[in-house]
Amino acid sequence: MTIYRANDERYQRLEYRRAGGSGLALPALSLGLWQKFGADYPFERQREIVLHAFDLGITHFDNANRYGPPHRAAEQFFGRVLRADLAPYRDELILTTKAGNPIGPSPYLRGGSRKSLLASLDHSLRDLGTEYVDIFYHHRFDPSTPLDETVGALVSAVQQGKALYVGVSNYPTDRAREAAALLRSAGVPLLVHQPRYSIFDRTPETSGLLDLASAEGFGLVAYSPLAQGLLTDKYLDGAVPPDARAAASAFLKPEQLDDVYRERAAALNKIAHDRGQSLAQLALQWVLRRPEITTALIGASSTGQLDHNVAALDFPPLTDEDLARIDQYGIHGTAQRS
Ligand SMILES: NC(=O)c1ccc[n+]([C@@H]2O[C@H](COP(=O)([O-])OP(=O)(O)OC[C@H]3O[C@@H](n4cnc5c(N)ncnc54)[C@H](OP(=O)(O)O)[C@@H]3O)[C@@H](O)[C@H]2O)c1
Repeated sequence: MTIYRANDERYQRLEYRRAGGSGLALPALSLGLWQKFGADYPFERQREIVLHAFDLGITHFDNANRYGPPHRAAEQFFGRVLRADLAPYRDELILTTKAGNPIGPSPYLRGGSRKSLLASLDHSLRDLGTEYVDIFYHHRFDPSTPLDETVGALVSAVQQGKALYVGVSNYPTDRAREAAALLRSAGVPLLVHQPRYSIFDRTPETSGLLDLASAEGFGLVAYSPLAQGLLTDKYLDGAVPPDARAAASAFLKPEQLDDVYRERAAALNKIAHDRGQSLAQLALQWVLRRPEITTALIGASSTGQLDHNVAALDFPPLTDEDLARIDQYGIHGTAQRS
């Protein structure tokens, strides 16, 4: 294995945006390790993608106890890369983890209890091989646990020095409002909310989450901005390339590539072409057009995809006319299961 030395030009490429009213800036594009960073994928390929991302200025790597397969494998993988390559750059990395989505049958391996959140965080820190994460998230609102208890666990994580900031993910807007108020009164402001947001999933617009983020001063980390690859040109003809996510993922099925999807994706692809860019680049610019969005959190299965997606930031902003055209086909729920 060659010794890694980060690209000296790495901070020239990307824009860094403040997360809400905080002092923390995140790169406009961030990399998540949800898919293809488990134990079932070649380590050297995964390592190359992570190091290439860092060389491009992607400082923010999103993880969770659940990511694999098996669960926890993506954090164990990242721990290997941190030890072998990125340890000298730890101060330049924003590492996250999440807990709360089920990772096993035990009642302590799910939900929002103090027990499950803090035990999982300790486990993640061991797997990642770091003394702290930069952002610790509750992965999904848990109606069976008092919000006070969940928020108290997030506050403890910060007080114990195990997390610098806290976030919530997939929280309904009214619960995010309550969590933000509780966290503020505990002196640990909500840094970010992580919702799904793309041309095909416009829930954050209709649910009031974008408005809440600007009113409360937290940032939004928009996940699956490419709708898991549906907003790229790879499925336009309705076929599934053998190495694509829809070929092997429980979360994206070939049945989703129906006639409605193909029609809308083709129309969006035409708009992208008229602007001289790809559908993926249009989709990323579209998510980032909103100032409430701190970063678009992408996945990647090759370094080429990272280069291509980072190049989205080189195009002129979308015009009102582009946005009106996109609205005709950017219809909530198209092909993206909610
Ligand atoms: N909080 C939550 O509950 C939650 C849920 C889901 C995701 N997330 C986070 O968000 C991250 C990103 O989610 P995501 O992977 O669904 O994001 P995405 O950016 O919508 O989809 C990424 C996938 O699209 C394909 N792709 C990317 N760029 C491409 C390009 N230029 N051309 C063609 N195909 C391209 C790749 O898949 P293939 O090449 O394999 O087809 C890639 O893995 C996750 O890793 C995770 O950190 C959070």
